[in-house]
Amino acid sequence: LPCYLNGEFTTLREAKVSVMDRGFIFGDGIYEVVPIYGGKPFRFNEHMARLERSLAELRIPNPNTLAQWRELVVKLASNYAQFAKVPLAECDQMAYIQITRGVAMRDHAMIPGLTPTVFAMANRMSQLPAAERAKGVSCVTADDFRWKKAHIKSTSLAGAVISRQISVDAEAVETIMFRDGMLSEASSSNVWVVKDGKVSGVPRDNLVLEGIRFGLMEQLCREAGISCELRRIPREEVLAADELLLSSATKEILPVTTLDGKPVANGRPGPIYEKLYAGYQQAKQ
Ligand code: PDD
Repeated sequence: LPCYLNGEFTTLREAKVSVMDRGFIFGDGIYEVVPIYGGKPFRFNEHMARLERSLAELRIPNPNTLAQWRELVVKLASNYAQFAKVPLAECDQMAYIQITRGVAMRDHAMIPGLTPTVFAMANRMSQLPAAERAKGVSCVTADDFRWKKAHIKSTSLAGAVISRQISVDAEAVETIMFRDGMLSEASSSNVWVVKDGKVSGVPRDNLVLEGIRFGLMEQLCREAGISCELRRIPREEVLAADELLLSSATKEILPVTTLDGKPVANGRPGPIYEKLYAGYQQAKQ
């Protein structure tokens, strides 16, 4: 599989990083996952703005300009299409970008002046089969035991791995988490609650990763004339929702129809989901 590492286009087989890379030793790095539809990165500037914010939190310099990032991602998408022998225009992909602080002897402090390690690859975006999307998916709930800097798209993901495994063990697609009885997010997606035709999401703060679909959800709601409010959402409201939605780069917008083994409302994807999903497909064009 084609990839990029520290200035060179190479393959996953060839690409090698030092064992002293701080990404390996400390998870001292950040990442992005950018959808690419027909060779065109979707919401690219927003993704790169978040990458910039994540880097700033860790005081890692941004090694590329916006134009250089775009060029890199577009090239990776075209390399992947060539590799997979599919026309670029017909290929939905996702780019993964990771930047770590760099290579140094082990020391917790943010050693200044290191050369960041930059890794990126593009791969096929695996879509949920249409039949499953039409049924909606199962989720489970759990306590949010992660740290209080969830707004950083950090590669320190042990919390997300443990959280996700709770749903894997329950044969569900996501774990929806609560901190002190209040909704935060799922292990790798944001959560939206629909009640009486209105959409609610949680505030943009340090307790959740602000998905790039956050702003998009607000926009799609506005365009569809649906009210969308960001506020603290108690667990009871999630359990009593008319509809429950997940959003992420790879899930787009996905209806949750079973929660902890019980149906969400009538157990079928609802009308707000249908509208927002249609809007999302439109926005991709
Ligand atoms: N995950 N919250 C968390 C904790 C996430 O990891 C993600 C994305 C999101 C949704 O963000 P966005 O809409 O920008 O994808 C929310 C990516 C897809 C991943 O880790 O693979």
